[in-house]
Formats: sequence, structure tokens, C-alpha cells
Amino acid sequence: MDNLFKDKTVLISGGLGDIGRAIVTRFAQQGANIAIGDLLPESEAATFLKELQPYKGLYSYTTVDVTDDTAVNKWIIDTETTQGIISMVIANAAMVTLADVKSITAQQWSKELQVNLNGAFYVTQAATRRMVHHKIPGRVVFIGSWAAHAPHPGIPAYCVSKAGIRMLCRCMALELAPYQILVNEIAPGYVAAGLSARVWKQQPDAAEEARQKVPVKKVISPDEVAWQVVNLCHPENSQMTGSTIVMDGGLSLLS
Ligand SMILES: NC(=O)c1ccc[n+]([C@@H]2O[C@H](COP(=O)([O-])OP(=O)(O)OC[C@H]3O[C@@H](n4cnc5c(N)ncnc54)[C@H](O)[C@@H]3O)[C@@H](O)[C@H]2O)c1
Repeated sequence: MDNLFKDKTVLISGGLGDIGRAIVTRFAQQGANIAIGDLLPESEAATFLKELQPYKGLYSYTTVDVTDDTAVNKWIIDTETTQGIISMVIANAAMVTLADVKSITAQQWSKELQVNLNGAFYVTQAATRRMVHHKIPGRVVFIGSWAAHAPHPGIPAYCVSKAGIRMLCRCMALELAPYQILVNEIAPGYVAAGLSARVWKQQPDAAEEARQKVPVKKVISPDEVAWQVVNLCHPENSQMTGSTIVMDGGLSLLS
């Protein structure tokens, strides 16, 4: 499949992260215009934007903090003006704090929920409001986590934020279905990238432990997550909404 999303615009938060870049690349391969947002300065995006040049879409990078709803709204309106109406939005930005229930501070707790849950809400609310305004069908994909359905020691704020994403996905799916806006979630297990890769760097044994724990005995590549995201946005999907695709190699079957 090629040029599936020619003349369509997708917006992604946390798009300079490992999974974010893989998602951007998959959409670029399908001809989409792409608005990438992340915390990092513009200079950090230059090389990646150059890598997208062989593809045919319009690409932009904006430094935007998803916890700032005013900045998020501006990003979405600016994208609409320069790259076209957004018909697909991917809520991908997230962080993880390694602090257990006994030690996590109020600030750490609030920050993580603010980024992972509220930030995802601000981005998807602002983008879907514009879809409704323009009366166009659309797609929302939340990047959740298997940590939403199984408690994982040492990351309570992350687990709670991703459990919130799961319910947000379902609430949004129900309300937006009459507008032909389909809302779904991908819940990966251990991905060999980004948040997990940084944890594994601090705890080298943990990577092999994770791999052994997964029933299929391998961790996920960022590109496989990206492939699922693109599938959820496929124009032939007209019925799947409010769903969570759990892609964790069977990890959740153990709990
Ligand atoms: N890596 C894994 O094992 C794994 C597993 C399951 C789910 N996920 C999910 O995948 C998504 C991507 O994670 P990743 O592993 O690629 O990590 P990553 O750190 O590489 O990417 C996350 C990106 O979000 C950005 N970000 C953080 N706070 C932000 C904010 N306030 N505003 C805007 N951008 C912000 C970061 O700068 C970063 O580029 C996350 O939602 C994560 O929860 C990851």
C-alpha cells in the first residue's frame, strides 16, 4: 500500500521520540502531510526532517509542550493553515518516573499525569474539535501501554496515567462516533526503544529479564507499533472504535 494518505494531514505529539519517529516515517511513506510536535528545540528536528525529504508530503516541526493547552491549540490552528485540516491525530508524548508508591512526590505524580493523560486530552480534544467544525471524518490513536491493565512495580504514576488513557479513548470514541471520528488505542508491551530503552540502560539486566518474561520471547520494534497505528487509520476501517489493540507478545496473558 502506497500513498494511502496523500493530501491527508496527521499530527503527532512526542514525534521526535523513538516510537514517534517510526510512526512519522510510516505516515510519510504513505504520502501524508505531517505535523510533528515535541519538547525539543527546532535544531533537534532538522536532521529528521531532512530524512523525510524523499517522501512527497508537507512536513513541519513545532516545539510544543502538551501540558500547555493554549500552545497546543495554536499548534493545531497553525497546522491547519499551513498543512491542511488535520484528519488524524496521534497522542504519543509521554514520560515515565521511576518512583514507587512510597517515594513518589506530589510534584512527580502531578507532572506525569499532566503530561501523559492531560496532555493527550488537550491534543486530541483540540484536533477533534476542528474535525467536527469542518465536518470531516477522522481518526484518533492513543499510544497507551500494557501498564494500563497490569500493575507494574515502581511506576505507579505511569500505570495510572495509561489506565486513564484507556477510559479517555472509550469516552471519546462514544461521543465522536456520530461524527465518523474513530478513536482507538494501541497498548504496546516492552518496546526496544525510548522509555524502556532508557530504563534498561540504567538497569542492564532488566532488558534480558523483560525479553525472557514475554511469552513470544522478544520485545517489540518501534516500527511494528507504527505499522499498527497506520492500520488503525486505514480508510477501510469504518467500524473499529473505542478499541485497544494490545501488542505485548502475550505479556498481559500472564496477569
Ligand atoms: N518504549 C516502550 O517500551 C513503550 C511501551 C509501551 C508504551 N510506550 C508509549 O509509547 C509512547 C512513545 O514512547 P517512547 O518509548 O518512544 O519514548 P520517547 O521518550 O522516545 O518518546 C516520548 C517523546 O515524548 C516527548 N515528550 C515528553 N514530554 C512531553 C511534553 N510535555 N510535551 C511534548 N512532548 C513531550 C519526549 O520529548 C519524547 O520525544 C509513549 O506514549 C509511551 O508511553 C512505550
